Amino acid sequence: MRDAWANVEKAETQPLSDLFKSDSDRLTKLTIEEAGIRFDFSKTHLNGSLVSAFEALAEARDLAGAREALFSGKQINVTEGRAAEHTAERGQGTPESVARAQGFHARMRALVDAIEAEAFGPIRSILHIGIGGSALGPKFLIDALGRDEQRYKTAVISNVDGAALEEAIGGFDPQTTLLVIASKTFTTSETMLNAQSALLWMQEGGVADPYGRIVALTANPGKAIAFGVDETRVLPFAETVGGRYSLWSSLGFPIALALGWEAFEELLEGAATMDRHFRLAPPAANAPVLVAFVDRYYANVRGSETRAVFAYDERLRLLPSYLQQLEMESNGKRVTTDGKPVGRATSPIVWGGVGTDAQHAVFQLLHQGTHLVPVEFIAAIEPEHGLAFDHHRQLLINCFAQGAALMAGKQADDPAHSYPGDRPSTTILLDRVDPATLGALLAFYEHRTFVNAVLLGINPFDQFGVEFGKEIAKAIDSGDAFDFDPSTRALIERAFGEAE
Ligand code: F6P
Repeated sequence: MRDAWANVEKAETQPLSDLFKSDSDRLTKLTIEEAGIRFDFSKTHLNGSLVSAFEALAEARDLAGAREALFSGKQINVTEGRAAEHTAERGQGTPESVARAQGFHARMRALVDAIEAEAFGPIRSILHIGIGGSALGPKFLIDALGRDEQRYKTAVISNVDGAALEEAIGGFDPQTTLLVIASKTFTTSETMLNAQSALLWMQEGGVADPYGRIVALTANPGKAIAFGVDETRVLPFAETVGGRYSLWSSLGFPIALALGWEAFEELLEGAATMDRHFRLAPPAANAPVLVAFVDRYYANVRGSETRAVFAYDERLRLLPSYLQQLEMESNGKRVTTDGKPVGRATSPIVWGGVGTDAQHAVFQLLHQGTHLVPVEFIAAIEPEHGLAFDHHRQLLINCFAQGAALMAGKQADDPAHSYPGDRPSTTILLDRVDPATLGALLAFYEHRTFVNAVLLGINPFDQFGVEFGKEIAKAIDSGDAFDFDPSTRALIERAFGEAE
């Protein structure tokens, strides 16, 4: 393995503009078109020798074997002793896991139909309560795709800060609201407290049977039933579907309700197209594999600690937050699958925003700062608004200009007016923002995260790092004896008047 990494580290590269001059085929080789998406990796330092070195590393890591293990339901989440079967939700898995997912989808669809048919009385709004993976996917997709035609008014509430829930319910009528409680474990404290407060709000709003208005989305149906949800309104999903990979499962219920069942199916189909591409395309023509080579190159050879993602499309404004959990919770690890120190940088810090706003806020650093930040631009060819096309034209022009400027740079006599250039970017250009295309895009990101993990030898499917903070919060909450440091003790005293 060490040799494979050493070859990656010593592979020769040239400045970006020279790479284009020395290889007239470069654009074709480093551009992949799949599922209505153009992935352009040509403005990165990837070249023939780097790709070969990474291919050898992928082989040494048995990427092909790991990929098959993923799709064939092997226990690849070794620390939690289970498989990672989110692709089965898209029909790509073992016959058993696909049949189970389809059974759960059928339950989900029946409930969507019943709600549409007003079996629970008129429902006008959906209050979705969940956090992390139980919120970010639905929130992103409903925001992206439900702008014109949201069939229900929808709010996705995650934060335990009561201000968030209060703001959402302020605009809702308790009599016509469906309460969706989404939690894989059904034990997450923020979600449980928000759910209790929402139930109280319904009760105080005169709803005779607030529990009769709950739909629970969970891999722990027993807990949901014990909470008081009728079994018929518990939509289960498999334990082997990770929280941040769960929007394809019953957890996607608010997506299906807000956008319609057909849209949900298109989303799954788009993801399945990307699954097939990932499974079948050779490494150098495989979008999730090639981009992981780019990611590893900047993180492990050039020392980039972050990657910036800019959505040049308001519809995709929540994509950076979604990606932060997907990538940082998956690959923010320091030990390998066999418990040894990983010895190299793992997940970059993912951050970003929307273009063109970000250009006037953070791009100064990208063009002239001292950090090398690989940038990812995401845009769509078709706009959705009714204003003059020039808005969209200007948006795309700006997006393309930024990538070109970062790469080319410009020398001036005055250093303050000089741009070093040779700064890498990838561009992901969607034909349009629709369910199938976003399904493919999100599956691309999932597989990219997986390939990065395989190249590093880490497990992307656990998240023990978040547990310790929860333990301490519990200790403060319960007043259990805990050896708090003086700073924490003083903060508790200042806020609550006494040591809790
Ligand atoms: O605390 C982290 C985490 O476990 C995430 O992985 C998960 O998406 C989130 O909390 C919510 O968990 P649950 O769906 O069990 O409420």
